[in-house]
Amino acid sequence: MTDPREQLVQAFGPEPTETWVVSAPGRVNLIGEHIDYHGLPVLPIAIHRRIRVAFRARTDRRIRAVSAKEYGLREFEWTPRLAPTAAGDWENYLRAAAEAVGRKWGAGVGADAAVVSDLPPAAGLASSSALIVAFTLGLLQANRRRASFGELMEILPEGEQFVGTRGGGMDHAASLASREGCASLIEFEPLAVRAIPVPEDWRFLVAHSLQTAEKSGTARDEYNARRAAGTAALKRLGFVSYRAAIEEPDAVEKLPPGPERDSFLHVTSEALRVRAAVKAMEQDDAGSFGRLLLESHASLRDRLRVSSPALDHLVETAVESGALGARLTGAGLGGCAVVFCKQPDLAAVRRGLIAHYYAGHPNFDPHQHLIDAQPGPGALHLA
Ligand code: GLA
Repeated sequence: MTDPREQLVQAFGPEPTETWVVSAPGRVNLIGEHIDYHGLPVLPIAIHRRIRVAFRARTDRRIRAVSAKEYGLREFEWTPRLAPTAAGDWENYLRAAAEAVGRKWGAGVGADAAVVSDLPPAAGLASSSALIVAFTLGLLQANRRRASFGELMEILPEGEQFVGTRGGGMDHAASLASREGCASLIEFEPLAVRAIPVPEDWRFLVAHSLQTAEKSGTARDEYNARRAAGTAALKRLGFVSYRAAIEEPDAVEKLPPGPERDSFLHVTSEALRVRAAVKAMEQDDAGSFGRLLLESHASLRDRLRVSSPALDHLVETAVESGALGARLTGAGLGGCAVVFCKQPDLAAVRRGLIAHYYAGHPNFDPHQHLIDAQPGPGALHLA
């Protein structure tokens, strides 16, 4: 990855002011899908792929940022109430960060920034959240403000809504608070992150289905529809929260067949799988962990209907190649699967996926589409 400081100087010239670099990693969710927005615990890891931003504080309110060629240079004035710019423009992520910081602490001095990344976009690795996290930390630092993890979690998921999606808090929490070598058990009510050490010989791959899940348009509507169905089911059954509902899973019998019932079944069963997966990880029980991933995929496919034929085929191919488990990861409807195996089987799993899934796809690039995803540190723990 190129040094973002060089990009900064190239774009905006050398300045005798202090420059610093902020990094925020992408994440892969191991298990606990489509439940964070219902306040239930999830188990992602941060990966070693990340967004790095070099920053220099300005004395006025201008924010200027440059990224790779295809994204180009953006600049705007950091005013107290920012509105989004054209849909799909990457400037919205910068605006989202500025608006999130501004809403809580007021607009401050702006910054010049250069962004570099080795995180593939729109691949279920939360690259957009990583960009918002990095940019938020950079703007805070430009204004000499320290924010706690809790404060960041108050503003970041809201900030993402500003760009059109309102996910749960998983992506930001994982990108901020993960620990090297550990998965993060993220709880939301109240907010807490527990580091669960990943056994030494467990390996994860992120395999792209080669179908992109754009977080705009249809995919966003589908995401919101899943969220709405789950919430409607909860209301219909008279529960105050899913935390209460998972203690009485039989209540589902009162719901007629349909999307609400299916969502309720997915959410409650997925929450129990997260619990079981944490136990399996703590006991170094790779067989059980792998089975839970497969059950999660089946529930996402059959109940929540957020898989795709390509993702199903990818998961099957991974298992046929020797993986202990695999499942779609992230919002689904395209994007990636997370594949789980033990270290001695990693090479065979990779070879199998290349021979039986990626063969015949001229666009396949192993560096972008078949990524080793070992657990790395989050932005708050990166040197
Ligand atoms: C997206 C959201 C997350 C989470 C997942 C589904 O990635 O950003 O908050 O809801 O979908 O688990």
